[in-house]
Amino acid sequence: MKRPQHGGNLVWAAALAKCSPDRILDFSASINPLGPPDSAKAALNAGIEALTSYPDPNYTHLRSRLAQAHQIEPEWILPGNGAAELLTWIGRDLAQSAATYLCVPAFKDYTRALNTFNATIIPQPLAPPRWELPSFTDIPAASSLLLNNPHNPTGKIWTKAELTPLLDKFDLVVIDEAFMDFLGDDEAESLEGMVSERENLVILRSLTKFYSLPGLRLGYAIAHPSRLQRWQQWRDPWSVNTLADLAAQAVLDDFEFQQRTRQWLTTARSQLFNALTQIPGLSPFRGAANFLLVETQTSSVELQRQLLERDRILIRDCLSFPELRDRYFRVAVRTEAENERLITALAAIL
Ligand SMILES: Cc1ncc(COP(=O)(O)O)c(C=O)c1O
Repeated sequence: MKRPQHGGNLVWAAALAKCSPDRILDFSASINPLGPPDSAKAALNAGIEALTSYPDPNYTHLRSRLAQAHQIEPEWILPGNGAAELLTWIGRDLAQSAATYLCVPAFKDYTRALNTFNATIIPQPLAPPRWELPSFTDIPAASSLLLNNPHNPTGKIWTKAELTPLLDKFDLVVIDEAFMDFLGDDEAESLEGMVSERENLVILRSLTKFYSLPGLRLGYAIAHPSRLQRWQQWRDPWSVNTLADLAAQAVLDDFEFQQRTRQWLTTARSQLFNALTQIPGLSPFRGAANFLLVETQTSSVELQRQLLERDRILIRDCLSFPELRDRYFRVAVRTEAENERLITALAAIL
């Protein structure tokens, strides 16, 4: 079976571990282990009855609820079938520019979306240990930027002050904030507040990681209405299904779950970080999101294989990030007990 490009491929992992997929403890996909919230489950159960009708193609209620959360008008929001769907339409827009600057390592799906429309990609390396932004001097006219903040796989968060000047350097700036919800309001470095002033800014958000609903698929873009109307004309009229629409509305009001998640993450991430630093040959990077990138002196592919065969634990190798090769792996932050299982297994191997 071919090595997966994304985390969370339990069928592939189970074949290596010689067990059923539900026996795998998955650290490879960065999904909140506290979810899905009860509010989502209740909305999904109640929503079964609504499946006899087509979804509202304008997603009127969901858009206005998201608009309220971001203090913007609803026509500046477009829900999508996961952030991944919206990346496709972003790819089509980016392909119109002379070149798209892409900070690497980068989420694999960016190249899928850009290559679909034959966009010209200019990779910009980020270097450890600080993963500072490139200086972006002498940018040719009509260039665009696609950036992920907080950044997958490094966990780096760039500040609003660092990002804002980029809006003057590029014709189009896309910030993928798929993991931004994991930061509390006082930590968040989202550029959401600038969208209505800057026509060349697109923000992408996902509900699948924070609310633990990757199988349901739900993301949204915040951007100028004319851009979003164009995307809507290109795509399938009902790309967000009724259940995803209803669950999203329910979780946005679930403040208890949001608060509990942020509290869990602060403690569990720092415990996991500290425990990883104690294991010989491993050097984790501090990260702002719900995962940690770890540098390893032994091959991550070999570690991944041993963890699967011995312990049925799946970590994310970084082979789909060619700049990192097999000297890095990524782990999601999970519950304290699950994190301890990972640490015990890693310590036994190393
Ligand atoms: C940086 C980044 N952006 C977007 C996505 C896609 O998210 P969604 O599940 O909403 O399609 C992912 C998924 O792993 C991701 O890591």
